[in-house]
Amino acid sequence: MATVIDGKAVAQTIRSEIAEEVRALSQKYGKVPGLAVVIVGNRKDSQSYVRMKRKACAELGIKSFDIDLPEQVSESDLIKQVHQLNVNPDVHGILVQLPLPKHINEETVLSEISLEKDVDGFHPLNIGKLAMKDRDPLFLPCTPKACIELLSRSGVSIKGKKAVVVGRSNIVGLPASLLLLKADATVTIVHSRTTQPESIIREADIVIAAAGQPMMIKGSWIKPGAAVIDVGTNAVDDPTKKSGYRLVGDVDFEEASKVAGWITPVPGGVGPMTVTMLLHNTLEGAKRCFEKKH
Ligand code: GUN
Repeated sequence: MATVIDGKAVAQTIRSEIAEEVRALSQKYGKVPGLAVVIVGNRKDSQSYVRMKRKACAELGIKSFDIDLPEQVSESDLIKQVHQLNVNPDVHGILVQLPLPKHINEETVLSEISLEKDVDGFHPLNIGKLAMKDRDPLFLPCTPKACIELLSRSGVSIKGKKAVVVGRSNIVGLPASLLLLKADATVTIVHSRTTQPESIIREADIVIAAAGQPMMIKGSWIKPGAAVIDVGTNAVDDPTKKSGYRLVGDVDFEEASKVAGWITPVPGGVGPMTVTMLLHNTLEGAKRCFEKKH
């Protein structure tokens, strides 16, 4: 049976470490890190993610700046907001929750975020540096950083291993594959047009599943002893639940946990770690800013 990686417990440990650093910064500089979380419209899933991010800030002593804009806001008004946050000295991180409404160009908006405040790591220059050898972005994207942190804190080495990333999204799959490459893995990306994905996944020592397909990856697809990090958070109908649904990953946990060496559960795996990495990035941004001014 696989070792189940307890993302909630690891996240709690790291959050205590961050809270301690925030206290120390507050004493040394009389200032705390600040994170602006911008949400446009009222998508239920985005609202729930944003609520979690703001709540986590409050718990750790990070000041959150809440910017809630209506669905109809124009691209130029959204960019104006971003510019205001760029020059606000109390804001050290800016996050624009994705996806944005169709009339707004995501690429244009993300490119306007100050590089020094790009705590999501989605600015094209940060992603570009992530892709290049011997260059380091100012911030690593939170979900891929969470995956790597879970592997390293579980004692799974990456160097020289065969890693397969399932999914090629800008938010998770693509940056996760770049981060694994930086950590010296041999990386393959499996996506919706890949033929026979199971035979490729079965070769992997490390699997990062970020396809957004409920329980797509079966136990028989997993190499015995592999480390499986499941980024999927898919709601499936469940009449036995009060809410009428439950969350499942991209991996069939029941089957895969009998074959894998390590596996993350859903919920309670990558999810709590992603928000923690955002807080960590905000702390890093604030530290760079405070230290520069002294
Ligand atoms: N939407 C889904 N995941 C994310 C994320 O990590 N950051 C932002 N900004 N939006 C998202």
